[in-house]
Amino acid sequence: MKGHRFRFASVAVQLGCLAVFVGACFWSEQASASGGPPGGGGAGDIPPGPLGSPLPGLNQNDLQAFNQGRQEFGRLEGPPQGLGPVFNGRSCLECHGEGAPGGAGTNLGVARVTRIGGTVNGLYSDLTQFGGAVIQARSLRELIPNYPVPRENVPFQATFVSRRQTTPTFGAGLIEAIPGQTLIDNANRAQPDGVTGRVNMVLNPLTGGLEVGRFGWKSQHSNLFVFAADAYLNEMGITSPLFPNENLPQGMPIPPGADQVADPEDNGNDVQAFANFMRFLAPPAREGAITLQIAAGEQLFSTIGCAVCHSPVLRTGNHPNPALANKNVRLYSDLLLHDMGPQLADGVRQGQATGSEWRTPPLWGLRVRRFFLHDGRSQNLDDAIRRHGGEALPATNRYIGLSQANRSALLAFLTRL
Ligand code: HEC
Ligand code: HEC
Repeated sequence: MKGHRFRFASVAVQLGCLAVFVGACFWSEQASASGGPPGGGGAGDIPPGPLGSPLPGLNQNDLQAFNQGRQEFGRLEGPPQGLGPVFNGRSCLECHGEGAPGGAGTNLGVARVTRIGGTVNGLYSDLTQFGGAVIQARSLRELIPNYPVPRENVPFQATFVSRRQTTPTFGAGLIEAIPGQTLIDNANRAQPDGVTGRVNMVLNPLTGGLEVGRFGWKSQHSNLFVFAADAYLNEMGITSPLFPNENLPQGMPIPPGADQVADPEDNGNDVQAFANFMRFLAPPAREGAITLQIAAGEQLFSTIGCAVCHSPVLRTGNHPNPALANKNVRLYSDLLLHDMGPQLADGVRQGQATGSEWRTPPLWGLRVRRFFLHDGRSQNLDDAIRRHGGEALPATNRYIGLSQANRSALLAFLTRL
């Protein structure tokens, strides 16, 4: 049933415009005959709501956990909470605020986080001993006069320096609730255009087992709690039971007295609060009426091959929480790793992801974003699409070959997500 009405609209458009005479298609802003709420409304569809709202259907406890988590997510931390010695941000919100709390970065086009890698004795290394894998570009020196530990710099040993844009966390609980087997099955299925998505099997330090990764630019984490604990340590310098040891600034020991709070600095409650907030964040809903132009753009997204990687919908499994169970997740991603060619490659390995592989980023919520691709190098969608290489080259070439009207339709569709 899902997408039933859309298919109708799309077929009408195809007959009326694409198949007849593409150049003669002038789009009107009148709603298409199919109408209906964006996102469907079939079984398992999430009713649309404002960006940043909680998932519909949460029970009272979960709603409270969401609200408490949102507060914690926005709290400015300082030395008494264990911030530093070196860090990149003082709250999660500082980087994750675009559109609403939980979103992507509201920054100035400069990716806030730098990840490094290199080769030591012939083997790939995160360069932890020199301050990697994540560089912390600020230190408590900005708060405490004469503080002994300076900010980190990219060490000369780094062969690979990868700037990373902040990814949004809207709908993250739904992404977490998609069965790993779904992603494995999709990776094993033969795809057109020679596309070969791979799962990133990553360590879940909570269980010690390998799981299907799905979060981050290289699908480097499988689980929101683990990502939150990792971010608390690597972006804010705050230790927790899962990651109880401080990063060593630039690989050097922390001078006595520079870190006054005993580890773990968070007893785990903050990490749990962050995870609750992100897990219960509603997905971005599509915006605006489905005009003929939008419907045509949606159709083109599939016909030229974008949807091979940017899967319009995946589905959650039998989750114990009814708000997350058996839902359609209209994320426009397969969450798999794809080789995107040398221009986008950063050389950095994470889990099983190689230096030229990236997770297909979900495209929902695109309408509030201003910078695109892993390092934010694109400031508009057209540029981001044209920079697709590697496995995406056939689709990119079809995009470039579209008429102006059709390209505009495709872009209009994307800006409503
Ligand atoms: C200094 C900026 C910064 C701060 C502070 C920060 N993040 Fe992030 N966050 C990022 C960046 C950059 C990424 C993408 C990382 C990557 O994949 O390389 C990210 C990705 C994530 C993701 C993955 C979302 C997805 O689906 O890809 C989660 C979850 C997350 N952050 C949670 C948090 C939490 C929780 C906090 C607070 C403890 C936090 N972040 C603090 C910059 C930041
Ligand atoms: C082979 C898989 C694949 C295909 C096919 C593909 N993409 Fe992508 N797309 C990706 C990956 C992977 C990235 C992230 C690359 C990076 O950041 O370096 C991406 C990034 C994007 C982004 C930027 C998203 C963000 O969060 O910054 C947009 C927009 C996008 N793709 C649209 C499209 C469109 C439109 C098409 C069809 C013309 C398309 N893609 C075809 C895999 C694919």
